[in-house]
Amino acid sequence: MSAERQSLLSSRASGLSGQFDVPGDKSISHRALILGSLAVGQTVVTGLLEGDDVLATKQAMVDCGADITKKDDAYVINGVGLGGLTNPSAPLDLGNSGTAVRLLMGLIAGQSMTATFVGDASLSKRPMRRITDPLEEMGAQIEIADGGTLPVTVTGLPTPLPLSYEPKVASAQIKSAILLAGLCARGQTIVTEPHISRDHTEAMLRHFGMDVTQEMLADGRHRATLTGGGTLTAKDIAVPRDPSSAAFVMVAALITEGSDITLPAIGMNPQRTGLIITLQEMGGDITLSNERIEGGEAVADIRIKSSQLTGIEVPAERAASMIDEYPILSVAASRATGRTIMTGVEELRVKETDRIAVMAAGLQECGVIVEEGDDYMIVTGTDEAPAGGVTINSQHDHRIGMSFLVLGMVSKAPIQVDDVATINTSFPGFADKMNQVGAQIQSVS
Ligand code: S3P
Repeated sequence: MSAERQSLLSSRASGLSGQFDVPGDKSISHRALILGSLAVGQTVVTGLLEGDDVLATKQAMVDCGADITKKDDAYVINGVGLGGLTNPSAPLDLGNSGTAVRLLMGLIAGQSMTATFVGDASLSKRPMRRITDPLEEMGAQIEIADGGTLPVTVTGLPTPLPLSYEPKVASAQIKSAILLAGLCARGQTIVTEPHISRDHTEAMLRHFGMDVTQEMLADGRHRATLTGGGTLTAKDIAVPRDPSSAAFVMVAALITEGSDITLPAIGMNPQRTGLIITLQEMGGDITLSNERIEGGEAVADIRIKSSQLTGIEVPAERAASMIDEYPILSVAASRATGRTIMTGVEELRVKETDRIAVMAAGLQECGVIVEEGDDYMIVTGTDEAPAGGVTINSQHDHRIGMSFLVLGMVSKAPIQVDDVATINTSFPGFADKMNQVGAQIQSVS
């Protein structure tokens, strides 16, 4: 059977227990490969996520002349320096990865290079003008398909124009693309977003010695300012474990009776911990311990015990700090008492799939009450376990696939998820690892 059509069946579990090692952070892994390649000197990256999205970034960087090799458990990058990359000989295929394609468009826009970007069926539907518009303002030449989607060709400039830009949405992909384009600009590149989005690009640029400042403005906006024209100096990176992947294990443990799971060394960047705060507010028994800094990033061990959850209204301004976690939060909400109200989440409609529509439809098929609008989703929990007994297509979206496998753990009848190969983009080995702590997920032939 082709990988595209692989299916998994998740049946009721009777309690998850033990220690679960979550894979490396996807956002930080992309940035480590890109910035390490632009640095002067050797960067050794440990803990890199070996998921399809990150491997697509690695391949694209190699196609642009980067020197990245695997040695034991580490990736060794011999940086070529700013201006040292070369034109790829074929279009760069970034598969399913919005982060990869958007960050790399920004990178190329700020170098004397041309590259064409393509992706899979899901990525080819996603909006790209939010990236190409500011890059054009910086002087890049852009060819883009009608409708503002891939394929996109970017021709960059060795010294792009500095830009002060205010994106309409808080998006780390938009912000990072502009900052990467501004690395060689003469002057300051400034991005002022409506709320702070994850700031891994800013942190890693500083790690490599660039002048990047961050400011929270009095009205709640966030401003990142990069002074262009410096040199990135190679420095090793230890990638923390991904809180967005930990989310699936956390919710599975909370809603599966009799669970007690520990997740060591999870990344605790405050722009990524919105789900933990939300689940705690819902009554989740989640304890953080051993909070520490590892390789420049805050990490903590997380212990989760099954809990009776209560629905809450999630503040809209928290959305950016948990934007990838709403699909699995809606699964948690289906087992909570009362309504869980999620607002300010219009960005979910332009992720790997329309996550509001696909989660709402799948949950409803399982007997859960869901209301949805352009920018909100409200889930009403049921006293009884959801019926299950359905087949859900992931729609090429890893987080949809994993969410419904978790729902299957607490449903009366098993849930089959089709097109599960996409889970490898962020969480290779998800089903096997879940089974090791007590899940009942089987391949379906
Ligand atoms: C990411 C940013 C977020 C997130 C994505 C990863 C990143 O997207 O949804 O999974 O690494 O920069 P937006 O920037 O579109 O919010």
